[in-house]
Amino acid sequence: MSRFADKVVVVTGAGSGIGRATAVAFAKEGAIVAVVDIDLQKAETTVAEIAKMGGDALAIQADVSQEADWIEVIARVKGAYGRINILFNNAGIGGDGKPLMELDAADWDRLMAVNLRGIFLGCKHILPALIETGGGAIVNMSSSTAGWDTIFGGGAYMASKAGVTQITKNVALEAAPYGVRVNAVCPGIIETRLSSAQAGADEAEQDAFFDHFRQRIPLGRVGQPEDVATAVLFFASDEARHITGSTLLIDGGQTLQSWSNAPSAPYPPQ
Ligand SMILES: NC(=O)c1ccc[n+]([C@@H]2O[C@H](COP(=O)([O-])OP(=O)(O)OC[C@H]3O[C@@H](n4cnc5c(N)ncnc54)[C@H](O)[C@@H]3O)[C@@H](O)[C@H]2O)c1
Repeated sequence: MSRFADKVVVVTGAGSGIGRATAVAFAKEGAIVAVVDIDLQKAETTVAEIAKMGGDALAIQADVSQEADWIEVIARVKGAYGRINILFNNAGIGGDGKPLMELDAADWDRLMAVNLRGIFLGCKHILPALIETGGGAIVNMSSSTAGWDTIFGGGAYMASKAGVTQITKNVALEAAPYGVRVNAVCPGIIETRLSSAQAGADEAEQDAFFDHFRQRIPLGRVGQPEDVATAVLFFASDEARHITGSTLLIDGGQTLQSWSNAPSAPYPPQ
């Protein structure tokens, strides 16, 4: 397939999890991918995976919360490929599960800097490059916790993601006259390093953690990074040409029922 032949795509947080799966999915469909991550070694691993498939990718180390890093990313991608067509603004960090009354202000600030300021800076600095090419697409990473769900100890993380959902709508409105579409994906629990970090160190704890979710997700499975990648590629593709300012839940029905509910009962009752 070559839905993205000749497209230059920037994916942040592409050294791991959802970002990595999405970078690989774009490359499989013909895109050139700038693999941006704060951890250069991880970015290089993703680039190597894409190169093995015969794709073209470039690893760039950058901290999305730093404006100077964004300016450098854009200069390097344009220097290498001459244009940018798509941004997946994905990089993010999880919280440490502390209730707000115990949370250090510095931890709040760091989370907001990566998860929300990073999204703002990405939109701000990529837009002129997309406009230069006559249009393009941005997909922002929000979360099912951006208003649908509340998890104890997740206040700062959830506030940052609710901000992403809102900023997506504002940027969509401002960018529409230039032919740039801006949408957001809102995954529920997805099996990655970020989510398993909350589970504890050993394998048994992690199994129990994901099992807890599996039992409460109506579709009966925990989401995988590729489940999010397919939605990101849809938003970025011409098939979504009339969609902007939209947010899409990708959660197996997780938010259809309260966490306090019993696991979904089989239907019809047995
Ligand atoms: N895993 C889930 O359950 C889940 C659910 C909803 C939303 N999300 C969101 O998806 C995004 C990706 O998360 P993931 O689960 O793939 O996690 P992950 O930890 O596997 O990947 C995150 C990547 O981002 C990079 N990164 C962290 N801080 C960065 C920074 N300041 N600048 C650049 N890169 C940075 C990390 O090095 C890592 O490679 C995050 O925004 C997260 O909040 C995840």
